[in-house]
Amino acid sequence: MLNRSFNPFPILKTERLILRQLEISDEQEIFVLRSDSEINKYLDRPVSSSVKDARNFINKINEFISTNVALYWAINSIANNGLIGTICLYGFSDENASCEIGFELLTDFQVRGIMQEAAEKVIDYAFKSIEVKKIEAFLHKDNQRSLQLLNKLSFIKSHKTDETNPELVGYYLTI
Ligand SMILES: CC(C)(COP(=O)(O)OP(=O)(O)OC[C@H]1O[C@@H](n2cnc3c(N)ncnc32)[C@H](O)[C@@H]1OP(=O)(O)O)[C@@H](O)C(=O)NCCC(=O)NCCS
Repeated sequence: MLNRSFNPFPILKTERLILRQLEISDEQEIFVLRSDSEINKYLDRPVSSSVKDARNFINKINEFISTNVALYWAINSIANNGLIGTICLYGFSDENASCEIGFELLTDFQVRGIMQEAAEKVIDYAFKSIEVKKIEAFLHKDNQRSLQLLNKLSFIKSHKTDETNPELVGYYLTI
């Protein structure tokens, strides 16, 4: 069985970042992340059309956390104290000791090594504290920046495909 107990919420810290739980006051940044055409270019999800959508999303995510279904961190920059992106672990399987990872950064904060720094911390937490043995990621075949990130994190291409979207390719990392 995985060690899935997300209450109290696991706050994680790195040199430049604090990874904390989402709050309703993050709704504006969450709206931008979920509506910006560049950020959502390769993501297979409905685009947010209002700040109210973002608020509903935050409530849904915090419900998932309180029921230990998924973990979703707001990535905060220590330097400017604002939410600059998110990173999540979801799709937990006790049977396979696995989960999936997802991540996104506001465009102004991309290409600074921020997501690599956040993802290394979250991956370490997933292996050591939740005790997953495998982390999976599915990304659009043309999502080059995500692919470069997964390569740096030592993910390997899998043979798994997503039945609902043949353009997604699978990657995995094992402990
Ligand atoms: C996926 C995503 C988070 C990757 O962001 P990113 O900025 O490329 O990744 P990082 O924050 O780790 O930054 C890495 C880049 O910063 C550069 N960099 C600059 N300063 C750095 C520093 N101090 N330390 C490390 N790297 C640094 C690195 O060289 C690297 O660039 P390169 O890949 O051209 O070599 C971003 O493209 C995104 O939000 N995309 C939209 C959402 C999305 O597609 N999510 C994936 C779903 S599967």
